[in-house]
Amino acid sequence: MNPVSLLIRKRDGECLAASEITDLVTAYTRGAVPDYQMAAFLMAAFIQGLNDTEAAALTRAMLHSGEVLDLSDLPGLKVDKHSTGGVGDKISLLLAPLVAACGVPVPMISGRGLGHSGGTLDKLEAIPGFNVNLSIPEYRAQLERIGVVMIGQTAEIAPADKKLYALRDVTGTVESIPLIAASIMSKKLAEGIDALVLDVKSGRGAFMKEEADARKLAETLVGIGREFDKPTVALLTDMNNPLGRSIGNWPETAEAICVLRGETPAGGPVDDVIDVTLALAAEMLHLGGVADSPDGGYVQARHALDSGHAFEKLIELVEAQGGDLAVLDAPSTRKGAQPVAEIRAPENAAGYVTAIDALALGWAAVHLGAGRAKKEDPVDPSAGFVLTTLVGDPVEPGDVLATVYAADPSRLDAEAVQAAFTYDSAPPAATSRLLDRYDGAQWTGF
Ligand code: URA
Repeated sequence: MNPVSLLIRKRDGECLAASEITDLVTAYTRGAVPDYQMAAFLMAAFIQGLNDTEAAALTRAMLHSGEVLDLSDLPGLKVDKHSTGGVGDKISLLLAPLVAACGVPVPMISGRGLGHSGGTLDKLEAIPGFNVNLSIPEYRAQLERIGVVMIGQTAEIAPADKKLYALRDVTGTVESIPLIAASIMSKKLAEGIDALVLDVKSGRGAFMKEEADARKLAETLVGIGREFDKPTVALLTDMNNPLGRSIGNWPETAEAICVLRGETPAGGPVDDVIDVTLALAAEMLHLGGVADSPDGGYVQARHALDSGHAFEKLIELVEAQGGDLAVLDAPSTRKGAQPVAEIRAPENAAGYVTAIDALALGWAAVHLGAGRAKKEDPVDPSAGFVLTTLVGDPVEPGDVLATVYAADPSRLDAEAVQAAFTYDSAPPAATSRLLDRYDGAQWTGF
């Protein structure tokens, strides 16, 4: 294999054979191809695109760069969910225990915050003591024992993705549909799942700002899942405004805990969080074989939430992974859980809130300490915002728009938070987070 000739052919728009992509990725993973050649290949792939066969070959090569877990000896169809990333997206924290409470095992390997978007691992670690670094034998044993486990990517899982992602991050090659799809699917397929549900986000706070791109990403992800014989369904969800009310690690974890406890979280109700959680759970329960249809899955999921069974499963999960159970009982008692400032509506604010810029608030939360400027930076688990005013709410100058949480309030950019809100004299049209559903054959709607 001559990497130069491969990248020249890709640069010139040729399609590569699956075996060529495999050889390139294998050589890169073991250090035989240097970063500069791989970076050139990634840029060629970014500009010329990869067809479905090439994207599947890339996924396969990345998947087999490490260990592919086999959980087939454990009972039940194992189903996971993956979100393409957004602002205020704490859904995994509710969904994993909820689906497990309904009898479908959930082996979940998650990531940390990336750019302006948060990560499930950072949110789990906001629970004092919660250990996301289980070994693979521990991961298997916990899944078998309680039906749910949530950990971070280990060195054994898709090491090619780890290297390639870091390279893409610094070479302007992140926002490519086939590269994102191969990155996500290689990790998910390595987990030992039988089926997958994808939450593909579209809008200001998502990686895919345009709905057409998000649809294409959903189709590519589902196509790869099917190519690997893993039933895969994608929901297209709106990510223009932050999801729910909280942004930041502990604020989001506290919101998830409150919903599972059946209580109203800080700031007020979060109907959109519940809608997205139940819609994803409905699909997972269907693919997991405990419901005949997504509609049947929805009924089971609703019952698990309302009965408190999902919350009981969260307690089991947190206990199993060493987390402090006291904060599940009383989320507001955690260190840093009290607001340190308020953001108020400016003088020109009147009428209704018509938009809240998720991207701007995502970055404001990062600056406050909820995310990282560099990979090795620590995060402030308490840092973030809770929206007291949502899109569609009436507003007057001086009203509190959001409360602020932070160990170091001097990092707050209050103007950026204030500027994220848009107003109009007329209320905006009501919209749903749930935009569409793709089952591999067609977009079906809800
Ligand atoms: N998430 C991933 O895991 N990979 C990407 O390329 C983008 C988002």
